Amino acid sequence: MKKVVLVYSGGLDTSVCIPLMREEYGYDHVVTVTIDVGQPEEDICEAEQKARALGTEHYTVPAKEEFAREYCFAAVRANGDYEGYPLSTAIARPLIAAKAVEVAKQVGATAFAHGCTGKGNDQFRIEFTIRALMPDATIHAPIRERNLTRSWEFEYARSRGVPISQSVDKIWSIDENLWGRSVEGGRLEEPDYAPPEEIYRWTRNPLDAPDVPRELKLEFEEGVPVRVDGEPLSPAELIAKLNRVAGENGVGRIDMMEDRMLGLKVRENYECPAAVTILTAHRALEALVLTREELRFKAIVDAEWAQLAYHGLWFHPLKEDLEAFIAQTQRRVTGAVWLRLYKGCLQVVGRSSPWALYSEELASFDTTAFDQRESTGMVKIFGLQAQMYHALRSRME
Ligand code: ARG
Repeated sequence: MKKVVLVYSGGLDTSVCIPLMREEYGYDHVVTVTIDVGQPEEDICEAEQKARALGTEHYTVPAKEEFAREYCFAAVRANGDYEGYPLSTAIARPLIAAKAVEVAKQVGATAFAHGCTGKGNDQFRIEFTIRALMPDATIHAPIRERNLTRSWEFEYARSRGVPISQSVDKIWSIDENLWGRSVEGGRLEEPDYAPPEEIYRWTRNPLDAPDVPRELKLEFEEGVPVRVDGEPLSPAELIAKLNRVAGENGVGRIDMMEDRMLGLKVRENYECPAAVTILTAHRALEALVLTREELRFKAIVDAEWAQLAYHGLWFHPLKEDLEAFIAQTQRRVTGAVWLRLYKGCLQVVGRSSPWALYSEELASFDTTAFDQRESTGMVKIFGLQAQMYHALRSRME
């Protein structure tokens, strides 16, 4: 019996893959796998129902805590940011693909299918992960391979009795997980079109946000957040809580142009209230405890990390190498950050750490602990080569 594991979201693209696998690719047994990375419960239920209706062997794999702990928090430690995008969709793809590989091993399959189009980043992320974890895998990408269009898919779905939840006028293409929500499509494709209020689900319009600022204390241990306002929470709980609190205050909306892997520039809208809040606090704490040389070098390492994460090269050896450096720096990123959230603004208003390199004693204007006279020689030869250049220039002229 020919078996294929379909990475399944329940959306139109992946749903049409089910009859396509049977009719066009010759698989008599389709196994669908939906991974719970914190997308809405309804989406997961809908995927289960559709899978049942279409007669697949279906698995829902819970992975929210693992996603939060191993993926979102890895991004926190690396200040994960690509062109201003907190990488929410990007970092979920390797986990989704890895779980699909686990299921494949369980059911004895080596063939996979996914519903990615040929234009986006997800085809790279998913296929690389599968090949890295199962070198002999066969991977089918019907939408890309057959150059299918949305309207063809609608027609085909209708003719094959595939339940369609999206109507043609459901214009936004949405991807959600614990780390963020991304919205594309429709008129948002016009870079000069202001996003309408209806695209937002997680964040309140700053105009309607509470009139009193929300003060928040976020505590970190070794680079990851562990307590909110003194309350210890699991990684997934903590992220969910901050999505709520920051979202209520209108924090976390991002409207940007993004350079996709294939070179396409796309307009993206994100809601990432927890990610934006945690990343801001994490940077504030690093600024307190790391030396300036570490900060400067870590910015380079972080940028490389973000590039790998964006490309879905989660299982690349360079990522492990970078993370070894990152882990070494994060041993001291322990402490508290106080934040103020108010009508879409997020402000760091305090930070403290047992590892703080800051000394009030030394930095204060009103101290004798730092003998100013010691600086004289250092100031005098500061920029020595440039001083010499200017001396030479005035002599030549
Ligand atoms: N551009 C982002 C990325 O490549 C997110 C894409 C999300 N997809 C969507 N249908 N909104 O990571």
